[in-house]
Amino acid sequence: MPDVRVVALVPAAGSGERLGADVPKAFVIVAGRTLLLHAVDRLLQAGVDQVVVAVPADQLVKARAVLAGRATAVAGGAVRTASVAAALEVVDGAADIVLVHDAARAFAPPVLIRSVIEACLAGAPAVIPVLPVADTIRTVRADGSLGGTVDRDELRVVQTPQGFARGVLQQAHQAAADAGVTATDDAALVQALGIAVTAVPGDRAAVKITTPADLAEAERLLASQASGAVDGDAATPTPTPTPTPTPTPTPTPQFRIGTGVDVHPIETGRDCWMAGLLFPGVDGCSGHSDGDVAAHALCDALLGAAGLGDLGAVFGTADPRWAAASGAILLGEVRERLRRNGLAVVNASVQVIANSPRLAPRRAEAERALSAVVGAPVSVAGTTSDGLGLTGRGEGRAALATALLMTRP
Ligand code: CTP
Ligand code: MG
Repeated sequence: MPDVRVVALVPAAGSGERLGADVPKAFVIVAGRTLLLHAVDRLLQAGVDQVVVAVPADQLVKARAVLAGRATAVAGGAVRTASVAAALEVVDGAADIVLVHDAARAFAPPVLIRSVIEACLAGAPAVIPVLPVADTIRTVRADGSLGGTVDRDELRVVQTPQGFARGVLQQAHQAAADAGVTATDDAALVQALGIAVTAVPGDRAAVKITTPADLAEAERLLASQASGAVDGDAATPTPTPTPTPTPTPTPTPQFRIGTGVDVHPIETGRDCWMAGLLFPGVDGCSGHSDGDVAAHALCDALLGAAGLGDLGAVFGTADPRWAAASGAILLGEVRERLRRNGLAVVNASVQVIANSPRLAPRRAEAERALSAVVGAPVSVAGTTSDGLGLTGRGEGRAALATALLMTRP
């Protein structure tokens, strides 16, 4: 994304009345660092170029010390809209995309942030992450009696970061200032201009820390991620960690797993590329690019783990750049996309299902080739399907891959 400049504004000037801590909410410490720093670091991990935070005016000195150069701090306003407007004032014309992200949603994962940026890059003027509503929703009258049920299929919970083309956000805030209106989020201001807002899937981890119970839940989630425990495993509760007041501790990594499958027919006379290697004297596979089912399954496992779509979506058959691309080229491009999304590969495993070529003699060589392009250990295995199915009849070859990713420290 060399030419696109992404700036994030972080409204963090609220007092956090409902949380009831003895410092403003953004300065409450979880797992050794302020909510503000958790939020800012995740934005930077997601590849945001510049972060501007709006804090209470009397917290500017403290904010600058906490941020240690990671972000610019300005004084916020009396309401959230005013705080966003104050941060927006220091954004210059070089910014293409502007995200607005509540400090209170400090644990929004970099993959969510990336998905908002990607939707903006795809041309949406305004993007908002939303979650479906699981509970039945009823209205309650002023006298306390129960009203009707609201159709929850039409309801969504709205989160941040919200993403905007810079000009659109500036226009929305100018119009709001002129009309003297405020809103609880920026997408509403954009909608008021008659501009459509695109919804993308939100993430439960981006919950807004509002009450002490939210804070306790966030601490529990962070601790379970750190210990590798499965979320929601009530039988083995994870103890809340004792906060360690280090100035810039390493963020807790998050892990993501993905699987990929690919199948191609065998084509007489075509070069046989498999797991990044050329097998002379063996017929290859037809299909887009070089027909390397192992590399393609691996690409899908990596993209799937990152939530970045699939091979077809990323390397469209209509795009001539990928027409003859080798599996290694595709994997290299996928690795670069992961990097831009703040993700690194932990390891991956791919199994080829085919009668030929014989992989065993060159397995170590294939593992070295794939590991080099992926930048992490990739294991390669081979099997036949005992004469059954399209692979057993020698009509085609298949591969199945699994990949594990982590957020980069
Ligand atoms: N916010 C802000 N300026 C304000 C009010 C709120 O920048 N004048 C920010 C908060 O810091 C928070 C986000 O807007 O990151 C969402 O607001 P909310 O969760 O309501 O935070 P607070 O207003 O701080 O909390 P409370 O309403 O409980 O006082
Ligand atoms: Mg508030």
